[in-house]
Formats: sequence, structure tokens, C-alpha cells
Amino acid sequence: MRITLDQAATLLKNDIVAIPTETVYGLAASIHSPQALEKLYALKKRPKENPLIVHVATLEDLIPFVESLPNTELTKLWPGPLTLILKAKNLSPLVTANLSTVAVRIPNHPLTLKLLQQTGPLVAPSANISGKPSATTPDHIEFDFGHSFPILDGGPCQNGLESTILSEKDGLYRILRQGALSQDYLATLLGYKPEIILPGAKPECPGQLFKHYAPDATLVTTLPAEAVLGFTDRTYTLPLIPLGPSTAPHLIASRLYQALREIDLKGYRRVLLDLDFPDEGLYKTIRERLLKAKG
Ligand code: TXA
Ligand code: MG
Repeated sequence: MRITLDQAATLLKNDIVAIPTETVYGLAASIHSPQALEKLYALKKRPKENPLIVHVATLEDLIPFVESLPNTELTKLWPGPLTLILKAKNLSPLVTANLSTVAVRIPNHPLTLKLLQQTGPLVAPSANISGKPSATTPDHIEFDFGHSFPILDGGPCQNGLESTILSEKDGLYRILRQGALSQDYLATLLGYKPEIILPGAKPECPGQLFKHYAPDATLVTTLPAEAVLGFTDRTYTLPLIPLGPSTAPHLIASRLYQALREIDLKGYRRVLLDLDFPDEGLYKTIRERLLKAKG
């Protein structure tokens, strides 16, 4: 159900609403409403060990719940698809999953920025059932949560990939989750290539422990298969689920979750991944998402 900005702000006092961002849609709840936060975990079937990203409208809005504001040029990327890990204070464990840190970002969507000015800080995990492909259109949210679920409709998401999560250690930024800002792009800003931290047994980014982005179908890298998740500028002998032209990573990114959802909608059980594309820029994030979806 599509609702207005004012209706969203009212509901968010003690309930949850799907909100648009430039990356993917989020399921928003106020950091001050334990009731809404509990509902969020239950509805998404999200493990309580997986902390949430707090979204704010301005840097100053962070002051009540971080030890100190980020002191880095990277904040020039805000509003934008960057999440920073900061030292937390005075936050519910329902937000932090009992970590001493909190993930924060200023999203770049005009409706959501306006909403955040009215509501104050909101958590917003991706608006999908945990483990399934993220939602990049209101239709995806209705598919996962039903037609009566309240949605602030901001159109299709521009990036189509989640924010890049960075954390600082010994003066260097490292990538805890690859995302809409590529490692190569961040390197041009930082003057060094931020290391991509691969998840260990106890990953710094708890989300890395869990299944992600996966359709019900099995994804494979060798035949046999019933269809191929591939590119419109290539020819295949199998039916094509199109990601877009192989030469346009931004387009592929914006279509990725739609395409992963199409696999199940079309009823395919076994789908081949075409992973023949460069290992640079945004392609790197796209490959990581496809391999995660494969599991
Ligand atoms: O683009 C995005 O970031 C989207 C939109 C809606 O803003 N949100 C999103 O949230 O992707 P979610 O909940 O699907 O993913 C949040 C990730 C999880 O992997 C979680 O483990 C990690 O952020 N995270 C949260 N707090 C953390 C912390 N203190 N330290 C390390 N990782 C953290
Ligand atoms: Mg997610």
C-alpha cells in the first residue's frame, strides 16, 4: 500500500514502513521504538545477531549515539551509498546486536531525507525476507510482505546495490561489505586501495555469516541448466534472464535483484551464471553478489 510522507512519519513513531534509498529499499523503524525494532526482526526473519544500519539526515543527527563524529573526507560522499562503522553510545542492543560499534549512513533519496528530518534516526535493513534478493522497487516489497504493507514509493532504486561498508583500523579504511561504491573508486579518493576484508569465522560484519540474495532456484556455473542469467549483447543456447549489456556495469547493478527475482517468478529450478566479465570497479561487487546468491 502506497502511503504519503506524513503518514509514513506518523506510523514510524511505533511501527515500520518501507522507504526508498538510492541503493535498495529499506524497512525503516525508529531507533527509539523497541516495539517497531522487534517487529522488524520478526517480519524479515532476521537473526538478532545481525545489527542494523542507522540512517540520518545530517551529520549532527549522529551526535546523540556515536562517541565521536567521523573525521574523514569520506563524509563528502554523504548523502550517498557509504556506510561507516563508528563507536556507539546510548543505543539499544536491538540496533547494535550488542556490538560496541554502530553502522551509519546518510542516504541519498529526496523523500527519505525529508522523512528523516521529521522522524529522526531510522534503522533500515534491506526490505526483503532475510536471505532473499533485496528489493529495488515497491513491487518487490509487496511480493515479500503483501499488498497492505505500507510503502513510501520513491520509484526504482538508482544504484540497485547496497551501500559499501567501511571501517577504520590503524588509520586505514577497509571494506567490510562491498557495495555501490567500488573498491577502485574509493581508492581514487583515499589514495590507497582499501582492503576487502573477507569474512572469517567471526566476521567484523556479522551479516557476512548469513545467506544472502538467494533465489529459491539453484544457481550453477556449469551445465546442465534451464536458463542463463546473462547479458543482452551475447548469444546463448538457453533462455536468457537479462542482466543488461555486459559493457554497462551500472545498468547491470540496477537490474541485478530484479533479475534474481525473475528466476523464481519464471519457475526455473537450475540457472547458469555467466560470470565472464571484468574483475574491476562495480563488476567486482556484482560478482560478489552473484556468488553469494549462488551460496
Ligand atoms: O544500502 C544499504 O546499506 C541498505 C539501505 C536500505 O540503506 N541497507 C542495508 O541494510 O543493506 P542490511 O541490514 O541489509 O545490511 C546491513 C549490514 C549487515 O551485513 C550488518 O551485519 C552490517 O551492515 N552491520 C551493521 N552494523 C554493523 C557494525 N556495527 N559493524 C559491522 N557491520 C555492521
Ligand atoms: Mg540486506
